[in-house]
Amino acid sequence: MSGGVTVRVPAKVNVQLAVGGARADGFHDLANVFLAVSLYDEVTVTPSPDRPYLTCSGPYAEQVPLDSTNLAARAAEALASRYGIDPAARNVHIHIAKDIPVAGGMAGGSADGAAALLACDALWGTGASRTELLGICAELGSDVPFSLVGGAALGTGRGEKLTDLEVGGTGFHWVFATADGGLSTPAVFREFDRLTPQAPAPEASPALLEALRSGDAEALAVTLTHSNDLQPAALSLRPALAETLEAGVAAGALAGLVSGSGPTTAFLAADAGAAEKVAEALRDSGTCRSARAATSPAPGARVL
Ligand code: C5P
Repeated sequence: MSGGVTVRVPAKVNVQLAVGGARADGFHDLANVFLAVSLYDEVTVTPSPDRPYLTCSGPYAEQVPLDSTNLAARAAEALASRYGIDPAARNVHIHIAKDIPVAGGMAGGSADGAAALLACDALWGTGASRTELLGICAELGSDVPFSLVGGAALGTGRGEKLTDLEVGGTGFHWVFATADGGLSTPAVFREFDRLTPQAPAPEASPALLEALRSGDAEALAVTLTHSNDLQPAALSLRPALAETLEAGVAAGALAGLVSGSGPTTAFLAADAGAAEKVAEALRDSGTCRSARAATSPAPGARVL
């Protein structure tokens, strides 16, 4: 698109999501081990003569809100206000080419927020530092800073305070199975509170971090059992996900878990060939809407 800026941004899977009790502000303290995965949205911002407006294309487009609640629109507005962008220059067309499942526990909305922020920053030449951009990301949502940085990171606080993590070897192979309909993240956290009245302080698992560092898929698979504290809540709200998890493991996945707050399920595979086989078996199983292979870690948001 002429005069526009396009940013590509990855989805994420949480290989660990340790959740503490509800805080006074309603959020939960987390030990959140993020891995960016090679499923991407592309967000293009183009100067527009009209008021800011959003469009979306791709397999999940009809599920994306195209109003001011969309994180991409909120990111553009937040950056414009912070840097005093002239009201006329604020008028942009934001197009989201969406390939990350919507309301699926893969931070698709957060990804679009981070991408729109980076794209508007490049379009308007604000000169914002990386730290300033990360600060705006944290205000937009707990997962938005990670969408900007990508790779692998431990998120503490409500998930927004990031420490980079090392991933060894040649990375990991995954399959993501999408479900019909999304799950609301606040609803899953509420169900977690109901099921877990006395949640201990969240801590990252040393064995899991070591498995990432060494790039050892089998060792990582062992640590994925019970690594997502939101999984029992997601399964309680959507019991059919247990069948998807069983089908993926029966097809040869090393491990299966709910991705974040779900309902997407994630399966770790030994290699690219095994991932393709698991994806095919899941598609044939009738327990999911679609299944796709992807790799991690993937780079964070970047201008194309
Ligand atoms: O930060 P974000 O806006 O993405 O969070 C969405 C919702 O998820 C919050 O309103 C809250 O209900 C829940 N949440 C939480 N604790 C976190 C992150 C999110 O309870 N650490």
